[in-house]
Amino acid sequence: MSKVLVAYFSHSGKTRKASQLIAETVGAELYEIKTVREYPQDEDRCIDVARVEFNAKVRPDLSGELPELDKFDKIVVGFPCWHDTCPMGVLTFLEQYDFTGKTVYPFMTHEGSGPNGCNDDMKASCKNADVKPAMDGNGLKIDAIKAWLA
Ligand SMILES: Cc1cc2nc3c(=O)[nH]c(=O)nc-3n(C[C@H](O)[C@H](O)[C@H](O)COP(=O)(O)O)c2cc1C
Repeated sequence: MSKVLVAYFSHSGKTRKASQLIAETVGAELYEIKTVREYPQDEDRCIDVARVEFNAKVRPDLSGELPELDKFDKIVVGFPCWHDTCPMGVLTFLEQYDFTGKTVYPFMTHEGSGPNGCNDDMKASCKNADVKPAMDGNGLKIDAIKAWLA
């Protein structure tokens, strides 16, 4: 059986819930990607802060210990859509690793943009990974999760 890690970033909780559902469905370990910087809870202010990071291609520092990836062969990476791609802290996380022999399964929650805007960034930041096209994290169903990670 494959060992699965679900690493996620969530600002307002939607991606956290989806990540918990995925982890419960396939018996995966959960890891929350956290930045040292706290983003404003107010969405408009958060959008302004995140836009500055996005435009400058910032890699914000992470807090907490990074997980060891040795024991996992499938890495699910979940995040909200921020400016049509992932939050920059997710790229900080991904760029810490060499994913040789591993498969990365991104998924994105969003408010209409759909999940595809992150695919180029995922490929560029997941060194040596087999990166699957991002899954739509809105309204995930148990059967779809099982088929996705089979
Ligand atoms: C900084 C910021 C940028 C966002 N940019 C987009 C976007 O480009 N397209 C979109 O559909 N939703 C966008 N959203 C909405 C979030 O992607 C959406 O609400 C997401 O599901 C929230 O997930 P979370 O609760 O895990 O943080 C943005 C939200 C924030 C805070």
